[in-house]
Amino acid sequence: MCGIFGYVGSPGASNTILTGLKRLEYRGYDSWGIAVKHNGSIDMTKQVGAIGDIDLSNKLNRACIGIGHTRWATHGGTTVNNAHPHIATDGSFVLAQNGIVENYQHLKAEFEKKGYSFVSETDTEVIVRLIEDTLKTTRDLTTAVREAFLTLTGRNTIIVLSADSDRIIAVRNGSPLVVGIGDDEFFFSSDTLSFADKTSSAVLLENHEMVKFDNGKLTFVNVMTGKAFDPQIQTLDHTTTTIDKEGYDHYMLKEIVEQRDTIREAVQYDESEFAPLVNAIHNAKSVYTVGAGTAGFAAGQIAYFLRTVASVNAVELKSYETLGFENHFAKGDVLIAVSQSGETADTIEAVEKAKSKGVAIASIVNMMGSSLIRLSDHAFLTRSGPEICVASTKAYTAQLSWGLVLAFASAGKFKDGVSVINRVSKQISGYFTDELFSRIKGIASGICSNEHFFVLGKGQHYYTALEGALKIKEITYKHVEGFAAGELKHGVIALIEKGTPVFVIVGDDEHRADMYTVAAEVKSRGAYVIGVADRTSTLFDDMIPSFPGGIADPAVKIIGFQLLSYFLGVALGNNVDKPRNLAKSVTVK
Ligand code: G6P
Repeated sequence: MCGIFGYVGSPGASNTILTGLKRLEYRGYDSWGIAVKHNGSIDMTKQVGAIGDIDLSNKLNRACIGIGHTRWATHGGTTVNNAHPHIATDGSFVLAQNGIVENYQHLKAEFEKKGYSFVSETDTEVIVRLIEDTLKTTRDLTTAVREAFLTLTGRNTIIVLSADSDRIIAVRNGSPLVVGIGDDEFFFSSDTLSFADKTSSAVLLENHEMVKFDNGKLTFVNVMTGKAFDPQIQTLDHTTTTIDKEGYDHYMLKEIVEQRDTIREAVQYDESEFAPLVNAIHNAKSVYTVGAGTAGFAAGQIAYFLRTVASVNAVELKSYETLGFENHFAKGDVLIAVSQSGETADTIEAVEKAKSKGVAIASIVNMMGSSLIRLSDHAFLTRSGPEICVASTKAYTAQLSWGLVLAFASAGKFKDGVSVINRVSKQISGYFTDELFSRIKGIASGICSNEHFFVLGKGQHYYTALEGALKIKEITYKHVEGFAAGELKHGVIALIEKGTPVFVIVGDDEHRADMYTVAAEVKSRGAYVIGVADRTSTLFDDMIPSFPGGIADPAVKIIGFQLLSYFLGVALGNNVDKPRNLAKSVTVK
């Protein structure tokens, strides 16, 4: 979701910015724009759609400084006019924003009364007019940006490029902002991945921090106090920042196959590293898990593991539905936040609410240096490497594997948890065969003209059903619903028609008989029953074969759904890595 990329350094800034924006593409966007400063004026290019293979080097090859933005529309349609950057009325600066100005309607009405006009439908342009208005009294762009920023409500990160001097100013609140420090060049971006091939030194800004490049030097300022501070320069680990399809047609398939290693990587911790969190869990009155989307389902599954393996009374919350729990949050409670990006706005807000009540925050996150990690008392990394496909695959199973080991550790059986994961990881390595891929491709081609699909699971596979359905929905744009098998006779069964594909997840567990009953019930109403199972059954019309993963089975059975989604998406001609309307990093509410 929206990405910012600014650059100052050598000539060719426009192409450097385009490359940076392409490395932010995975966040999801529907239009983009760049602005570079050359000879005292600003040159802008904006387009709707993907960046593609555009080369701006002839047109703007001499510029050494500029900013760019990928936009995921919130306020105003996907048009060139609404794409960022937005320019000041007198052309003296341009601005791009990630976030939402929550008081924009009020501010817009005020400025319209003052005679300012607006050329876009965005909330962003309000910030531009606000800076223009403040400039009338302050006369200094940096001061005006700071004062304007303090007037905004909501989570906003902005970047400003001046036309009259080589100056970039960027301020963070909410959406991430990082500064890459190279040899005589600087990068201002939404994430470190975007410049990981250029430098391994970076400053990760906190909320309400501002960075300014002016007169050849960088300055960092706290916007609340106006005081300058010395930043902490971090060294990035390049081994986890490479972005490459490595011979696969799509990132999605590459990332699915990588699960043979990533679920093991996620639990490379010593027991002593889990101990403080385990201790907090044992002493807590309430333990919550929280997340959104796929990470929300992982949070649910982790709560399930904590309840069943360690008898911890863990409750799953949806990041965006925590309001009713606020009064219950109390000092000593533990909240475990699950997130690939560590930047999901709803999850961060839930964490901030809980933290303000004294709740201890634990997190399992994939992106180093992300906001969630910095908010956590007990931060853990999944270490899955960059997950570029918008639909999450390897991050989900890594979160599950970490959660399972946490549950075992909470039950005083840390080593057993690690052995389960090591065993399953080995089995997953042997699971990815050409035979399996052809089988699932066959199932995909048989059902790709259907419009409605249902997925049923029970017990340990309740969340597998929800996540399996979400995966197919994201990649195929079909109507797919996942249900607890117990819901079948309370409504779902009314939707079953002759030929409706119904996926029935049968694990090697106490629910096997119930799941066979469910398969029989839908089959007798005409459903095309696809078992996701370890054993064949005459009740199945087709089957995604798997192997018994024991207590870690949710991390095993979901792989069949991931592969099916992939092959269905490819068969339908969809952009599997960047499904329509979706964003990888949901940094606005
Ligand atoms: C989006 C992504 C999902 C992800 C969810 C939460 O919907 O497409 O893959 O699960 O956001 O993101 P997070 O970064 O918090 O895991």
